[in-house]
Amino acid sequence: MFTAYGADHRRLRKLIAPAFTARRTDAMLPRVERITAALLDRLAATPAGDVVDLRGSFAHPLPMQVICELFGVPDGEMRSELSRLSDAIMDPTLTPEQAGQTAVDIHTLLSKLVAIKRETPDDDLTSLLVSARDDDGERMTEQELVDTLLLVIVAGHETTVDLIGNAVHALLTHPEQLALVRNGKASWNDVIEETLRWDPSIANLPLRFAVEDIEIPGGPTIRKGDAIMPSYVAAGRDPQQYGATAADFDIQRPGQEHLAFGYGVHRCLGAPLARMEAQIALPALFDRFPDLELAVSTEELVPIEGFISGGYRTLPVRLTPASEQGS
Ligand code: HEM
Repeated sequence: MFTAYGADHRRLRKLIAPAFTARRTDAMLPRVERITAALLDRLAATPAGDVVDLRGSFAHPLPMQVICELFGVPDGEMRSELSRLSDAIMDPTLTPEQAGQTAVDIHTLLSKLVAIKRETPDDDLTSLLVSARDDDGERMTEQELVDTLLLVIVAGHETTVDLIGNAVHALLTHPEQLALVRNGKASWNDVIEETLRWDPSIANLPLRFAVEDIEIPGGPTIRKGDAIMPSYVAAGRDPQQYGATAADFDIQRPGQEHLAFGYGVHRCLGAPLARMEAQIALPALFDRFPDLELAVSTEELVPIEGFISGGYRTLPVRLTPASEQGS
């Protein structure tokens, strides 16, 4: 679906779009709240002053658990294996052999999931896709079914991890902006949209090709078939679009449009879900740990390898639960 065009793309997108309606996204809200609260409880048990990797212990497991709920992935080993493989598939440091093995392993795991849901359907995205395929095999091949599951997992996991991580990083390095949210002068929605503009989860996106000649006014002509790599990180900081302050993180910036979710027919299907997860995760985290602080400087943070993802490998922080303030 991600690389399909025209009728094929419409057919595949139509099949999974029902899983991302406002109603389905809203229905996930109580579960996202529950998952968030459980992760924060675990964090609160950390001895005061200890350094914790907020990515590994909060930003990463939250969207993974949400995706597992969405797909009806059974608790236990299957979930931890999916989490491992979903990381591996985005890891550009793997050797070609390891990458090949990862692709085989994740297809095997997702085929197993499809078999489980065919046997015992439930109210989840996998069952929805399986029934769409089984009701009318013309609509989607078995290979497309597994590939679609893979796409949504890959597209929906690390991107949301980095949205949460990048927003936390931006706020901790811009305390004056965090203060604006705390005193009601800006909203969490402002934080989310400005993070998506300033530090988008997908920095650059390959696998796009011109389907016809594209003339850029005052620029080169992109020829039909040429590879194109949209750079969302460059677009987000374009001074022609955002003025002289384009490089500043400013949650009160007027007009918060950005391209972080793409544009046109392939525009991100999971944007409402990602926004909802961040809307719950961020206020809950800062309420629970009002004195949250980075344990290292930005220069010490290690960016994720490769040119696609925009985020840091770890986010070491110090926590002080609200209940321990002043004790
Ligand atoms: C902050 C989080 C996210 C960001 C920044 C993001 C960004 C993007 C971008 C840039 C694209 C390509 C759009 C284009 O080519 O014009 C995309 C496509 C897609 N995203 Fe997201 N995404 C996020 C979260 C999610 C989530 C949570 C899901 C689902 C669980 C999801 C599912 C998809 C799918 C299925 C596509 C392919 C759409 C198509 O080809 O028609 N994304 N996303």
